Amino acid sequence: MKKEKTIKWTRKHLLGIEGLTAEEILLILDQAEEFKEVLERPIPKVPTLRGMTIVNLFCEASTRTRSSFELAAKRLSADTLSIVASSSSFVKGETLKDTARNIEAMKIDMIVMRHACAGAPHFLSGCVDASVINAGDGAHEHPTQALLDAFTIRKKIGKFKGLNVSIIGDISHSRVARSNIWALNKLGANVTVCGPKTLIPAQIEKMGVKVTYDIDEAIKGADVLNVLRIQLERQEKGLFPSIREYVKCFGITKDRLEKTAKKDIVVMHPGPINRGVELSQDVADGKYSVILDQVTNGVAVRMAVLFLLSQVIRASAGKDEKLEED
Ligand code: CP
Repeated sequence: MKKEKTIKWTRKHLLGIEGLTAEEILLILDQAEEFKEVLERPIPKVPTLRGMTIVNLFCEASTRTRSSFELAAKRLSADTLSIVASSSSFVKGETLKDTARNIEAMKIDMIVMRHACAGAPHFLSGCVDASVINAGDGAHEHPTQALLDAFTIRKKIGKFKGLNVSIIGDISHSRVARSNIWALNKLGANVTVCGPKTLIPAQIEKMGVKVTYDIDEAIKGADVLNVLRIQLERQEKGLFPSIREYVKCFGITKDRLEKTAKKDIVVMHPGPINRGVELSQDVADGKYSVILDQVTNGVAVRMAVLFLLSQVIRASAGKDEKLEED
């Protein structure tokens, strides 16, 4: 049955989950349900964004997010352009602001941006008229990852209220953790974080999560485990003794799950996985894993985000045209 939409999307940008309400998050998830149905058709394409141009500006590596946004835009019939920092004029010293304003001068509507610096998409949204979508900024937020994670949880379990979700691993360096905590708390789930003390930020409890350093405690009673990548590229040296020690204390293995977990536990991972480190092979590819469902759902969720922002852009263009006529 189609759900009634009770609120309207009014935001021009999607910069994070922190500023969204639970109703706005649910609006995106409900819209994504409609696009998931489109993606299951023999011809998975609709003309909804015809005439719009979306730029993927990726200043940091990505496989899933970049291709998912590109595919989402194409499925909605938008024109797309991909700019990768390493082969752009960034390497000649052009500033982010100049790059963005030059791209915008080619008449584009949205910029999807990933950047290693927290706050870069927020800065960009102040420099351009286009809508800006944060595709991951440093260790700050990764809003569409949290939305696709929430969508996957709702598809698999059907609810958020009272659900126990444990986020495991490198919480300190994780934008996925931060966006997931904001989203899950707003939706009524109970969130626990678990990892080595050196990878859990001080005072993270203030975000409304429980903290444990005991992996079996984090697994026991959990409905969902969201296992994070150990981000060796962001870490200073020596935050844990060795990879072998990490695997022994925090690695999610089939043995560990069979001993401690609920029978129907759901195991998630945002990718890319360090196989044999945060997850064993048999868990990554096993019956508890919804990792590839997350990737599939990501396209529908990103179509929903592009569609909702496009409605705001069109409404504002309509107003401008009306003013000119008057
Ligand atoms: N989950 C995620 O952000 O993956 P990518 O870095 O491949 O985009």
